[in-house]
Amino acid sequence: SHASVTDVLTGKYPVGSTVTVKGWIRTRRDSKAGISFLAIHDGSCFNPVQAVVPNSVANYQSEVVRLTTGCSVAVTGIVEASQGQGQDFELQATEVQVIGWIEDPDSYPMAAKRHSIEYLREYAHLRPRTNMMGAVTRVRNCLAQAIHRFFHENGYAWVATPLITASDCEGAGEMFRVSTLDLENLPRTPQGGVDFSEDFFGKETFLTVSGQLNAEAYACAMSKVYTFGPTFRAENSNTSRHLAEFWMIEPEVAFADLDDVAHLAEAMLKYVFNAVLEERMDDMNFFAQRVDKDAITRLQDFVAKDFAQVDYTDAIDILIASGKKFEFAVEWGIDLSSEHERYLAEVHFKAPVVVKNYPKDIKSFYMKLNTDGKTVAAMDVLAPGIGEIIGGSQREEVLEVLDERMVAMGLNPEDYGWYRDLRRYGTVPHSGFGLGFERLIAYVTGMGNVRDVIPFPRTPRHADF
Ligand code: 4AD
Ligand code: MG
Repeated sequence: SHASVTDVLTGKYPVGSTVTVKGWIRTRRDSKAGISFLAIHDGSCFNPVQAVVPNSVANYQSEVVRLTTGCSVAVTGIVEASQGQGQDFELQATEVQVIGWIEDPDSYPMAAKRHSIEYLREYAHLRPRTNMMGAVTRVRNCLAQAIHRFFHENGYAWVATPLITASDCEGAGEMFRVSTLDLENLPRTPQGGVDFSEDFFGKETFLTVSGQLNAEAYACAMSKVYTFGPTFRAENSNTSRHLAEFWMIEPEVAFADLDDVAHLAEAMLKYVFNAVLEERMDDMNFFAQRVDKDAITRLQDFVAKDFAQVDYTDAIDILIASGKKFEFAVEWGIDLSSEHERYLAEVHFKAPVVVKNYPKDIKSFYMKLNTDGKTVAAMDVLAPGIGEIIGGSQREEVLEVLDERMVAMGLNPEDYGWYRDLRRYGTVPHSGFGLGFERLIAYVTGMGNVRDVIPFPRTPRHADF
């Protein structure tokens, strides 16, 4: 039968049984005694399985000794206890079938040596074959599955929210336009604007920046929901934390206030970090050895510690009292930049920290106005080493206040008719947050750039592959 590398290495097949492993050659080593050692990987776990191939195998001279990194093979052999270090089982090969050769091994872009991260980005279609991207991909999958499991176990319904939308959730004007209009010959209104009535949707539409507004509609009926899907931002930020296309996890909870979702965020992060520590130590050991020596201890500390909590106003005082010269000057009213966020999480609290109750003018229209009239019930979760990974808030559930906030922020309440209905018909306090999935993976793995934790990154001027 066809066994995965994981099956063989974890002892699923008893010593003495015959199995076939299908995968790709990582390395080949030949001994003088006429034996070749093939390291075969199939992506199912970090380690390759070793196949010991004696020269009695029929195609030994004609094919086996010509195998190079990247060739695909099906190796049949007997499971044996391994003499070598590092793994318990190996295969004593009886048959090696070569499925696909490497055209010109000398020019194979993924030859078995260390490649720089920048080089690998140029080969987004081949980099999944590397140890590093294999590890990232398994950890990413582990986190995604654990997130779904966490919400499922806690009674949340997964809701698919649309990717094409007419509303700008964050009001930041950073949306990619979706249009079927002929750019050469744009229809015009009598006033000279673009006439979207001839567009496919009959109105101007965009790729969504967040599923939140639609998730609110479902929370106000299903009580506890979440979305988990791609979101898009046309912000021209060339940083290690920004992608034009990224995935976001957005729970939305009826009858919940800001503290409730702050605790939800903490419980969820601890749950998914524990899952990584339980399921993917093979990959985490690699990250700790080769990418960031603190990768494992960071997760262990995170699950053991309570989050720190601080009011925005107190956070500003802490930053001023630090006496540190920041690039962006600190005063009440500013949006925290990543240097401020990292000071709070890394230097002051030395722990993940929830900053709450931001000035209303720097936050979105939907956030609940606090009784001070100056701040809104918003929170950001800042992680040491990366800064903001979560943004969330209690939502304004009072129609009159919501309308005033929209007008103050230059939005037209008439454009948000369906959203306002949620406040007109059985309104309830509700809250939620958005977790940037790639920032989460970057945090867990210690990979310094979100471009290297998503299979095919989309950033300014990069949409190949
Ligand atoms: O803080 P943001 O903009 O919040 C919202 O979109 C809310 N509607 C979420 C909600 O309450 N349901 O984004 C949430 C998170 C950020 O904390 C960050 O982790 C991530 O999304 N994020 C990005 N990740 C990668 N690239 C970008 N360009 C990102 N922009 C935001
Ligand atoms: Mg934010």
